[in-house]
Amino acid sequence: MADRILVTTDDLEHAVRVNAGLEAAGFDTAMVSSFDDVRQAVRGRGLPPDCIILTGGLHETPARHLLASARDNAISTLGLVEATEPNPKELASELGLTAWLVKPVDPQEAVTTTRRLIERRKLQQRTGILGESSPIQEVLVKIEQMAPVTSTVLVEGESGTGKELVAKGIHDLSPRRGKPFIAVNCAALPETLLESELFGHEKGSFTGAAERRLGRFELADGGTIFLDEVGECPPATQVKLLRVLEDRTFFRVGGVQPIQVDVRVIAATNRSLKDGVAMGQFRDDLFYRLNVLTIYLPPLRERRSDIPLLVRRFIAEFAAQHDRQFKGITPEALQILVEADWPGNVRQLRNLIESMVVLAPEGEIRAGDIPPDIRERGRGLGSGLPMRVPGASRDVAGQEVQFILRSLVELKLQIEELRRRVEERPARRVEMIEVAPADPLQLEPAADGGGPVIYRAGMTMADVERAAIEAALKETRGNRRKAAEVLGIGERTLYRKLKEYQLA
Ligand SMILES: Nc1ncnc2c1ncn2[C@@H]1O[C@H](COP(=O)(O)OP(=O)(O)O)[C@@H](O)[C@H]1O
Ligand SMILES: [Mg+2]
Repeated sequence: MADRILVTTDDLEHAVRVNAGLEAAGFDTAMVSSFDDVRQAVRGRGLPPDCIILTGGLHETPARHLLASARDNAISTLGLVEATEPNPKELASELGLTAWLVKPVDPQEAVTTTRRLIERRKLQQRTGILGESSPIQEVLVKIEQMAPVTSTVLVEGESGTGKELVAKGIHDLSPRRGKPFIAVNCAALPETLLESELFGHEKGSFTGAAERRLGRFELADGGTIFLDEVGECPPATQVKLLRVLEDRTFFRVGGVQPIQVDVRVIAATNRSLKDGVAMGQFRDDLFYRLNVLTIYLPPLRERRSDIPLLVRRFIAEFAAQHDRQFKGITPEALQILVEADWPGNVRQLRNLIESMVVLAPEGEIRAGDIPPDIRERGRGLGSGLPMRVPGASRDVAGQEVQFILRSLVELKLQIEELRRRVEERPARRVEMIEVAPADPLQLEPAADGGGPVIYRAGMTMADVERAAIEAALKETRGNRRKAAEVLGIGERTLYRKLKEYQLA
């Protein structure tokens, strides 16, 4: 099916010529006279457009609204900028245009740019990498460039920024896509186990080695190995990795026969390897071997313009997955999420959205549903706004219960995810194996004492919710108003739930 393009008619002459060019190139195009028409088409019945071309009026408010809604719906935008515009690049980034061209625009140029934008969008659909910010767009360009070759790639970025997603994207676009993609977390295992995991071992090579076992490098033969947190490799393993990178050969633990594999290496690190080298913790020769092609993923707080899009997508995804009728998110709540710090980046945002979609009582995420630690971590804190003084004992107790509740929900989600993976595994063969536990960031260390343990294996979401309500009531000595506050839900909702669970 032809890709759908909308062209606004603010600059009629350009609109007509560009529209004709696009039609001749086989696109399904439509000219729309007002931003209202476009908005209708975007929300519209039928398919949303793949790209919108704004031929003028870029400085006017309707354009800003339109661009914001296009961005939230992951529709590409191309702006035709007046020749008198002093700084088109700045204007484009301020407006959030995906691309821009300065007038007069040759229709052919518009066609080429549109085609490129649409290809980029398809790439995002294939890889699952969302985001319109320029760092994410640059990452996508790099993935396209790096996929066809076999050179080693180093992906850098804080935990939860999407390093594994990028590695998988490169593999899936590469000629190796039919072969295994094997992930190993180098930080998760002590030295001897890590080596046996990576390179395999011979029968009897150490106590407990009852059988010969193939390592991840052999399992990845023909495909891609993803060395996560490579900076945490112990020195002896670093030497062996260097050797594999140099000539693609290694020995199984306890083996004497060199083994040759054809494996593409993608490594990831959440701290600077260069600093590791400077501090003598990471071999410089290995660093240079890994540092051939690099991709840097900036933390989420440095690309906040992507947050609304991520939030909307995650809400839609989890509402469907948990089969919940869900309205969405209030503007106020969204604003809080846009301003939060996100030390755990996209992973943290995604997990939070899942728990809110499951727990939000009104079928909509509202400001009050957002846990206080997220709210308070926002940018406002450092900027001289009054800080909330901790210490009132009711508050501490409240936060503890909140924390326990949220940890339980997250734990439950993680268990479900693990169960899903275990169930999927036999059918999927060795597409992807993970040695590592989920990132520790997802669960902060328990407050000392730990509080009551509510979750037990086999409990449903409703059981967890009921137990949390009981705990909150106990904590607040039966004061329902306080209990509702502690749980971050409305009093009415609490009453409804008390009835539902027959706790009243
Ligand atoms: N740009 C993005 N678009 C959509 N989802 C993302 C994006 N970046 C990360 N995620 C999601 O966030 C979670 C963490 O991503 P992951 O690749 O494991 O991060 P890292 O390896 O850097 O810790 C995953 O569920 C992933 O799908
Ligand atoms: Mg990771």
